[in-house]
Amino acid sequence: MQKPELIELPKIVDPRGNLSFFEYPKQLPFEIARTYWIYDVPGGEIRGSHAFREQQEFIVALSGSFDVVLHDGKDELRFSLNRSYHGLFIPNLFWRSLENFSTNSIALIVSNKKFSHLDYIRDFEEFKNLKNGF
Ligand code: TYD
Repeated sequence: MQKPELIELPKIVDPRGNLSFFEYPKQLPFEIARTYWIYDVPGGEIRGSHAFREQQEFIVALSGSFDVVLHDGKDELRFSLNRSYHGLFIPNLFWRSLENFSTNSIALIVSNKKFSHLDYIRDFEEFKNLKNGF
């Protein structure tokens, strides 16, 4: 089983402004099928709170900071994203929430799958049962 992983991205420091990037297969473990971003999040709001059957994701805090809270069916794992040159790889079948958004933060998310409602698991008990083989 693949594991969540915080990946340090290249950072090209330049007095004109810094530049970072990711590309498959060097920094990104999958080819991108879809890109979306979450922004204008009011203080205290939580996004996500579901798992994906097939979809894998890679999340970068392009601006500001937020926490990605993962659950593997047994344990919780928390990543604080606050650098635009860090990317968090999340394998499929991890429950995940995004919370603690700072003002004006932007979460960039790339995925290996096109959007499908059918890929979502929105019930935590169903997720735990699936993970734990019930
Ligand atoms: P959703 O993934 O449920 O957001 P969150 O879990 O963070 O609350 O997506 C919210 C809505 O946006 C939902 O109706 C589906 C739609 N959506 C798309 O149409 N395409 C996409 O790529 C994504 C991520 C969401």
